[in-house]
Formats: sequence, C-alpha cells, structure tokens
Amino acid sequence: MVFPGQGLQGEEFPLQGRGNFFIVWGVLLQGMKVGIRLKNSIGKTLGFLSHDIGIDLGTANTLVFAKDRGIIMNEPSVVAIYTNSKKVRAVGLEAKKMLGRTPANIMAIRPMKDGVIADFEITEAMLRYFINKASRTMKFIPPRVVIAVPSGITEVERRAVKESAIHAGARDVLLLQEPMAAAIGVGLPIDEPAASMIVDIGGGTTEVAILSLNGVVFSQSIRIGGDAIDNSIIAYIKKMYNLIIGERTAEEIKIRIGSAAKLENELEMAIKGRDAIIGLPRTIKISSVEIREALREAVSGIVEVIKIALEKCPPELSSDLVDRGIILAGGGSMIRKLDRAISESTGLPVIVADDPLFAVANGTGTVLQDLGLWLSED
Ligand SMILES: Nc1ncnc2c1ncn2[C@@H]1O[C@H](COP(=O)(O)OP(=O)(O)OP(=O)(O)O)[C@@H](O)[C@H]1O
Ligand SMILES: [Mg+2]
Repeated sequence: MVFPGQGLQGEEFPLQGRGNFFIVWGVLLQGMKVGIRLKNSIGKTLGFLSHDIGIDLGTANTLVFAKDRGIIMNEPSVVAIYTNSKKVRAVGLEAKKMLGRTPANIMAIRPMKDGVIADFEITEAMLRYFINKASRTMKFIPPRVVIAVPSGITEVERRAVKESAIHAGARDVLLLQEPMAAAIGVGLPIDEPAASMIVDIGGGTTEVAILSLNGVVFSQSIRIGGDAIDNSIIAYIKKMYNLIIGERTAEEIKIRIGSAAKLENELEMAIKGRDAIIGLPRTIKISSVEIREALREAVSGIVEVIKIALEKCPPELSSDLVDRGIILAGGGSMIRKLDRAISESTGLPVIVADDPLFAVANGTGTVLQDLGLWLSED
C-alpha cells in the first residue's frame, strides 16, 4: 500500500510529484463519490423496475408474493428429481402428486422437514424454480427477495438460505422470522408498546411469539405441526384397525374430519388402505371422535408451548394479552375447534386469522413496500 507522501520503494517524492499525487487522489475520491451516487441511483431505479418478491419457505407449502401483485404462487414444498442425474423433474403440485408413487429412477423429496432445511441442494433448486418463475418477465433485473424462515434456525442455516437465494438469482436477500412475518401479515399492531401474540401452526412446526415495539419479546417453537398430526393419524389407524395408510390419506382425514374439541355434529368418512396382516387393500369407516383421540397428544403439545410462552411473558405484557388474546395462523390452525381448545386451556380469547395459510406470505408482501428501509436495518 502506498500512502500520500510516501515514495515507491521508500523513495522520497519530489514536491511537484506530491502535488500531482494529491490531485490524482482528489480526482479518485470524487470519482468514488460519483460512483457511489450512481450505484445508489441505479439501485433505486432497479428497485423500481425489478419485481421484488417475498417467499414463505414453508415445510408444507411455499408461497410467493410479488410486489404490487399479491400472492402469485402457492405450491407444495416438494421437488421430484431424477435419482441418477439429480436433475429436477418437477416442483410443487406436480411433484407432490408423485410422493409415494415414483418409479426407481425418480425421487420426490420434501427438502424442508420439521421447520428446518433437511436438504440444502434441493431447497436451492426449489428456490431457483420459484424465483425464476416469479421474475420471468424481468429476467435481466434480478429481484430483491424477502424470505420468511422459521425462528428456530441456526446462524449457519440462515447464511445457507441467503446464499441459496443469491445462487438462485436474487440480487439482495432479507430474512424475516416467520412469526414476525405472520404477525405483520395478519395486521397485528406490533409497533405498539403492547403485547401481541401469534401462534403459527405450520406443517413442520408450531411457532409461538409475543411481539411488542416491532420486536420479538419471546418466541418458542416446537416440532409439532400438520406433519406430526398426520403421522399420529397413521399410527392410530394402524394400531386400531391394522390398516396402513399413506401420508396423503392421513392429511385428507385430518382436513375432512379432524377436530380438537367435541363437534355439534360428529363426522364420518370412509378410508382406504392396505391391511397390515394380509397385505390387501381394505376400506373402513372412521369417525371424528376417533380422529380427535388420535390428535389429542399433538393438540396438548401445542397448548403446552403456548402456556410456556404465557408463563415467560413479562407481567405488563401478559395483561395486554388478556384483552388482545391470541391470534392463530398457519394451515394447522384450521383444525376444527382448535381455537376453542386453546381458549379453554389458557383462559384467553383466541381468534383464527382470516386466510391463515397466507399470513406469512402477506407479511413478506407488506415488508416489500419498504424493503430499502428493512435492508438498511438488517
Ligand atoms: N383445513 C385444514 N385443516 C387442518 N389442517 C390443514 C388444513 N389445511 C391445511 N392444513 C395443514 O396445514 C399444514 C400446512 O400449513 P402451512 O402452509 O401454514 O405450513 P408451512 O408454512 O408450509 O409449514 P412451516 O410453517 O411449519 O414451515 C399442512 O400440514 C396441512 O395439512
Ligand atoms: Mg409456515
């Protein structure tokens, strides 16, 4: 490094040479300033032109929100790849249809498990698919991307998601904690000096967060979500009927007749599976009362984590929650009477958000409106 006034190889600069050097230095500085201004204004123009997007990278579903357009994609987080070449065959709904039905040369994979990234390579391929599809019209200006990630992921995982998004074509990346995104998405007044509580029951995790003054006061996440509930249905049917059913059937049962508390009119449904003993297909009828039993443990797990959050909440904020109650979001919040079960166990009012499956994606959409500001604070 050569400093002003210091000659090359330690020689003294002649006086005139020094003058020239300062002129050159000044011109360089000016050039740098102009460069920075140019970069900022290019950045602003690109920001204006580029199609910034928000992504809810969920265990079960990935949603993409495009600025000024709303939710443009909502697909299962599933990728089908060729077993040998590892090339992507399908992403999203098309790949989900293949789950459990693939020939030997194709694998259908869910790269996100239990709210964390189980397979980085496949997650990156999935992100690339969504980012490319979202910015198809403006490919020459890469988008800035907001990604909602589970609050429990480690710093290493956060970095990996950021890098994956950059590799996948993002110009700049902002990571947002999922419960924060959900709270923004359902319109909770999180900027006020009062507590808001959100419980996001997703496919992989249930995330509970108490927010105040734009920050997370307390958050806790457990690996109980829609997937765990589906698995408990599979285990229950196997134990009670010796019938083996797949994940998709279990999910259908949960959605059609699953409940967390007594229903006015209990429901019934016929299900098909494979007999565990004789190995042949068989159909049985099951009721919502039985499925409620299958769900009992998972529901108490969710209630327990909410109670822990309430216990750890500072008293001033606790009293806010008595009036404001708890807001539920995420697909799992749609289980019949789950709001009632949580309300009875906590003594607080519980409300299921409108469009609970879209809460996180809508939150990323709100953040996109002031993305420059968020990125500068990141
Ligand atoms: N009507 C419904 N009743 C019960 N469960 C439902 C219903 N609709 C969807 N689900 C469940 O919601 C879950 C998906 O919710 P969501 O899309 O919020 O999860 P995710 O964001 O992908 O997961 P995570 O936030 O854990 O990463 C799935 O387990 C699905 O079976
Ligand atoms: Mg989610």
